[in-house]
Order: sequence, then C-alpha cells, then structure tokens
Amino acid sequence: MQPSQPHTVLITGSTSGIGLAIAHCFARAGHQVMLHGLADAAAEQALLAEFSEYSGRTGFSSADISSEAGCAQLVSDTREAIGNPSVLINNAGIQFTAPAHEFPAEKWHQILAINLSAGFFLARDLLPAMRNAGWGRIINIASVHGLVASEHKAAYCAAKHGLVGLTKVLALENADRNITANAICPGWVETPLIQPQIEAIAREQQVDIEAARAELVGAKQPMAKATSPDAIGELALYLCGNFASTITGAALPVDGGWSAQ
Ligand SMILES: NC(=O)c1ccc[n+]([C@@H]2O[C@H](COP(=O)([O-])OP(=O)(O)OC[C@H]3O[C@@H](n4cnc5c(N)ncnc54)[C@H](O)[C@@H]3O)[C@@H](O)[C@H]2O)c1
Repeated sequence: MQPSQPHTVLITGSTSGIGLAIAHCFARAGHQVMLHGLADAAAEQALLAEFSEYSGRTGFSSADISSEAGCAQLVSDTREAIGNPSVLINNAGIQFTAPAHEFPAEKWHQILAINLSAGFFLARDLLPAMRNAGWGRIINIASVHGLVASEHKAAYCAAKHGLVGLTKVLALENADRNITANAICPGWVETPLIQPQIEAIAREQQVDIEAARAELVGAKQPMAKATSPDAIGELALYLCGNFASTITGAALPVDGGWSAQ
C-alpha cells in the first residue's frame, strides 16, 4: 500500500519483539524504515531480506545506543540510509530485576542509558530537522512502569517514568511546529524481553512455562492476556496519521486494565 505521504521512520531496537512488529506495520503501510538493534551481519542480512518484500526503502544500523556517541552513530547511519527521519520511535530497552538494596550499579547505568538517555539524545539530534520541516512524530515506547511501580524494577521504573516526563516536555516545546510526542505504555507484551521473568516463575514455583506465563500476566492485569506486538505497531501508526494530529504529550496505556486499578 502507498500512503499519500510516505514517512521516513527510525525505530530503535527493531531487530526483535515490539520494535520489529512496529517496523513491519510501517513498512507494510508503504513508509521507509530504518531498522536498528544489536545484530550480527547474518542477522542483518536476514532482516533486510525479510523487509525486501515491501515497496519502501529500508536501512539498518547496529549502533550500540548505550552511549551518546552510539546515538550519534545511529543518527548518521539513518541519514545515510533513508534521510532525515520524520518519525522517531524510541523503542530499544532492556530489563533487569533485583531489590533496590541489591541492584548492581552497572545494571542501573545500563538501563538508564538505553531506556531513557538514548531517547533524549536521539530526539535532541533529530528535532532540528523536524522543526525546519514543520512536521514530526516522536513516539516513546515507555511501559505501564512509566505510570505505576512494581517491586524489583528500580532502574526500569525510574527510566520509564523519566521517559514519560521527557515525552511531555518534547510535546510542549514542539507544539508550534506540528510535531507531536507521545508515550505508549504497554503492560505485558509477548516478546523475548519477558521470557526470563516467565522462566524464573516456572523455576521457583515448579510449574510449566504456560502456567508461569498465565501467573505473570494475571498477577497484574485484570485482563489476563498479553498484548500482541502488532497492536503496539498499529497504535504507533495511528499516532502518525491525520486523526492523531492533536494527540500530544499523552501517555497511552495498552495494559489490560493494569494501571486502572
Ligand atoms: N515486552 C513487554 O512486555 C514490554 C512491556 C512494556 C514495555 N516494553 C518496552 O518495549 C520496548 C521493546 O521491548 P521488547 O519486549 O520488544 O524487547 P526485546 O528484548 O524483544 O527487544 C529489544 C530491542 O532493543 C535492542 N537493544 C537492546 N540494547 C541495545 C543497545 N545497547 N543498543 C542498541 N539496541 C539495543 C535489541 O537489539 C532489540 O532490538 C522496550 O523499551 C521495553 O521496555 C516491553
């Protein structure tokens, strides 16, 4: 399908899970996508082959965005491959769970760098071109943990609450240029990121993987089913459409009622 106005879309962390689903949604809709994530040359080739069925141009970068320099590398790779992005989707993220009083400093810094600071550096570097063009979309994949807390997720909750705050500032500062900034706040989404948590429950409670998954999701969500990654992709696509032009500064839960409690 060819959209009336194809966008150039950078999606961080799009080798897997939610980011990959978002990339497919935009590419299917005829937009040009910049794929990104930690992947070796073979995985990169497989990914590019997977996207070659779409009509739009596709690029790939494996820049490690846990540093400011890595974010600058990603910006430069993106400009070279598809030009200045009109849509930035900050999706890359990692997880680590431990009580705050035992949380390793290295994990704290890593989670803050990837889940929060990278979103800031990329928005800072890409906003000037969006402002000049008079149109842009920034979508931050936060989490229900940007709205409420859970035990053992000190760094993740701090980063995701920070990302929701950053989203609101970007929305205010760029409201005069047709640029919106929104956060999507998913509850449980079926991706590799939640696998270690499912396996830990299976180990601790000596139950099978299916029972552990049901236990994990049902413990927090009134709707005890995980969201599909495609649902997040379709919402991101909607936020780039004409009907969403005045949705800005929002933190949109997609969480089976988790944050309504
Ligand atoms: N899965 C869920 O239940 C869930 C729920 C709420 C929010 N989220 C958020 O959604 C986003 C995507 O999560 P997912 O479940 O798809 O994760 P995932 O583990 O499937 O994918 C993570 C992506 O980030 C990339 N990445 C990680 N560290 C990187 C680094 N240093 N440099 C560059 N890329 C890096 C990986 O290569 C991969 O492409 C994350 O921000 C996560 O916090 C996930």
